[in-house]
Amino acid sequence: MSEIEVILNSYTTKFNQNLAQYFPQSPAPEHRAATAMRYSLLNGGKRLRPFLLHETAALFGVAYDKAFPVAASLEMLHTYSLIHDDLPAMDNDDLRRGKPTCHKAFDEATAILAGDGLLTYAFEVLNSADIPAVQKVELSLLLSRAAGAFNGMIAGQVLDLYTDTHHEFSNPEEVIKHTEELKTGCLLRYPCEAGAVLGNASAGERENLIRFSRNLGIAFQITDDILDVEGDEKIVGKTLQKDKKQHKLNFVGIYGVEKAKSLAADLIAEAETLLEAFNPRAERLKMLSRYFLTRNR
Ligand code: IPE
Ligand code: IPE
Ligand code: MG
Ligand code: MG
Ligand code: MG
Repeated sequence: MSEIEVILNSYTTKFNQNLAQYFPQSPAPEHRAATAMRYSLLNGGKRLRPFLLHETAALFGVAYDKAFPVAASLEMLHTYSLIHDDLPAMDNDDLRRGKPTCHKAFDEATAILAGDGLLTYAFEVLNSADIPAVQKVELSLLLSRAAGAFNGMIAGQVLDLYTDTHHEFSNPEEVIKHTEELKTGCLLRYPCEAGAVLGNASAGERENLIRFSRNLGIAFQITDDILDVEGDEKIVGKTLQKDKKQHKLNFVGIYGVEKAKSLAADLIAEAETLLEAFNPRAERLKMLSRYFLTRNR
C-alpha cells in the first residue's frame, strides 16, 4: 500500500466512526429512508472529498473537529448524488461501493427519499457546526451552488444524460470538459474553497486553491472514465464498461485511454505547482493529487 493509501485508510476509519453518530439505528417504519441513508453513506466510499476538505483547511491550521461537520455534510450530499445517479431512470446501476445500490437493497421510492434525505440533512449538519455564523452562511451558499442546477453538479448530470452523442461537435473536448467540470468538478472545488473559508484564507490563497481544484476535478473524472474501461470491478466496487454501452461522451471515448491518461497527468502536474505557495504544509495534498491518477478504485 502506498503512503497516501495508508493515510487515507486511517482517515476513513476515524471519519466513518464520527459519521455514524448522525445515524442512530431505529426500527420505526417511518425511519426506512433514514436506514437507507445510513446504508448508502456508511457503505464503503473513499471519502476523498471530506479528506480534501480537511487537508485544505489544515493548510490554515484548522483542527479536524472544527471542520468535521462541514466535511460530513459534503459526503452526505455526494452520497445523495450517487444514489440518484444509480437509479433506473439515470444510470441504472446495481452495484455501488461494492454493495447493491440503494434502490436494489431497498426499493426505488426509498432510494429517491434517501437521496432527498441526505441532501436535506447535509444542510442541517452543516448549519449545526461549531463555526461562526458568517462562515455557515457562506458555506451553505457555496454548497448549494456547487450541487445545483445552474452551473452545478445537477447541470453536469443533465449534460451527461442528455448530450446527443451521435451529434458531431465542432469541439468535443470543450463539451466534455464542460460536462465533467460541472458533474464532478463542482463537488471537488467546494471542499477546496470550504477549507479556505474555514481557514480565513486571503483572496489570493483562495483563488489558488480554486485553480488547483479545477485541475483536480477534471483529472478525477478522467480516471473514473478510465477505470470504467480498464478497472477491476471487485476493487472499483461498481459495474464497469457502462459508459460506452450507455453512449456516454467522455475523454476516453474521444482520445482513447493513453491520451486521456497523459492529459490527466499534465493536469495534476500543474495542480501540484499551484500548491507551491503553501509549502511545506501542502505535501499531503500533493500526494493526494497524484493518487487521483493512480487510484484503482
Ligand atoms: C464517484 O465518486 C462519482 C464520480 C463523481 C465519478 P467517487 O469515486 O469519489 O465515489 P466514492 O465516494 O468513493 O464511492
Ligand atoms: C456521477 O458520474 C457523478 C455524480 C454522481 C454527480 P458517473 O455516473 O460517471 O459516476 P459513476 O461512474 O456511476 O460512479
Ligand atoms: Mg452518471
Ligand atoms: Mg453512474
Ligand atoms: Mg463513471
